[in-house]
Formats: sequence, structure tokens, C-alpha cells
Amino acid sequence: MPLRPYIVGNWKMHGTRAMLSEARAIDRAAQRHMKVEVAIAPPYTLIHPVHREAEQIAVGAQDCHHEEGGAHTGDISAAMIADAGGKFVILGHSERRQNHKEADAQIKLKADAALTAGLRVILCCGESEKTRDDGNAVAHVKKQLKASLPQFSDNPEDVVEKLTVAYEPIWAIGTGKTATIDDIGDMHAEIRALLIKVYGEEHGSEVRILYGGSVKPENAGEILSTPEVGGALVGGASLTADSFMGIALAAGESEEG
Ligand code: PGA
Repeated sequence: MPLRPYIVGNWKMHGTRAMLSEARAIDRAAQRHMKVEVAIAPPYTLIHPVHREAEQIAVGAQDCHHEEGGAHTGDISAAMIADAGGKFVILGHSERRQNHKEADAQIKLKADAALTAGLRVILCCGESEKTRDDGNAVAHVKKQLKASLPQFSDNPEDVVEKLTVAYEPIWAIGTGKTATIDDIGDMHAEIRALLIKVYGEEHGSEVRILYGGSVKPENAGEILSTPEVGGALVGGASLTADSFMGIALAAGESEEG
């Protein structure tokens, strides 16, 4: 059975306790949109406060360290995120890749560590504008994923429940530009084929593939009705309950067809 559309808010480095009212409003609205799975990834400092108040939405983190603990000043482990009430972690976001020089092999280690700690993983991939203009977008995204997808060799039945892939063209993030529906559809089909190759038909065909990059209530309906788009990873438009739940509403409508 296909999973519900998954709408995930990535708050990035936005949010102090004053934002908890917004999280509460998102949670209340999510209780009225049960056909859609809604989650938010606030900064680390808000994971536990949101977890304590949320009844419907899951809360997660935007990164984790690949080790369980140790001398890593400023880092947070997957186990700590789980301890704070986090249920998932976003890994390999292009801002982490760019600002912290994260490479695919490191992202894979993080994904394995997150799964070991019992977290679900949202694994991000996406090409730069130059890579797309050069005609190398598909090859680039496949290479990123091949090198960072976790294996699940001991428990293949967990793949669908625990893994989500997010395709986010870098040039569409926070820019107001979105990829064309055809490009989104083509890339998601390529990612689907890769997931089936890696995890087999039974599991690979069910893993949700989110689109991210300037998703807002106005364009969400069309994007979310595109084949193989199983939800959205939302940055700017997830910071207010109104715009974020406008996207969730569009996801619910796309479900009804
Ligand atoms: P955006 O960010 O919706 O603000 O473009 C998406 C993301 O970076 O996950």
C-alpha cells in the first residue's frame, strides 16, 4: 500500500521558543489532515520542546554526527536526537554539503548511524545549476545517491518505513525558482529506477521521493500530482502554519486525485 504523502518542514537556522506557537498551530492543523503525514525539523534547540507539545506531527533534526559520542565539539549524535524526541533526521542537505564540505561517504555513515539509533532518514540529493545546464543532472544525482544510500542488508523490510529520498535542485532552493514538472517527473523516475535496483522491486518501488526547492501553496498541487512525487521538503514556506499547511492541504487533494 503506498504511504501517505509526506510533507516535511525544514526550518533551517530559524526558530527560537517564540516559534513554538507556530509548531502548535501546525500540529493542530495536521490533526485535520490525516491523509497527509506532516513533520518538522526545527533547529536542535527546539526538538524537545516541539516533541513535548506535538500530538500529531513528528519532529526531527537537520543533521547528525555519525558517531554515537566522543570528542566532537558542537556536534550532535543520532542517539541524542532520538533521546530528545526526534524521530527522523534530514541528511546530505545541499547547505550541509556546501557549508560543511560533507561528502557522500560521510553522509552514508550518518545514515547508517541514524538508522542504528532508530531514526528515520530523509536523504537529500540534487544538482547545481551548472550541472543541469551541462546536461549532467541525472548522472550527478544518481552518483550522489549510489554513494550515500544506506544498505539495510540485515533488515530489508525496513527500507520503506525508514528511508525517504528528497530531490532538491540546488538552484531551486530558496530562490523562488522551481524545476519544471517534466524535469521533476524525469528525475523522480530515474531515482525510482535506482531505488529498485538497490533495494529490489518490493521495497524500492515504495520508498517515498520528496521534491524540494521553493515549494509553496501555489505550486504544491501541481508538483505533488507529478508521478513519483511522494511529498515535499519545504524550507521557507514551512515557517508559518498558514503556508505550510496550505501545502499539506494540496497534498491531501492530490491524494484524492
Ligand atoms: P525552500 O528550501 O523551500 O526555502 O526552497 C527547501 C530546502 O532547502 O529544503
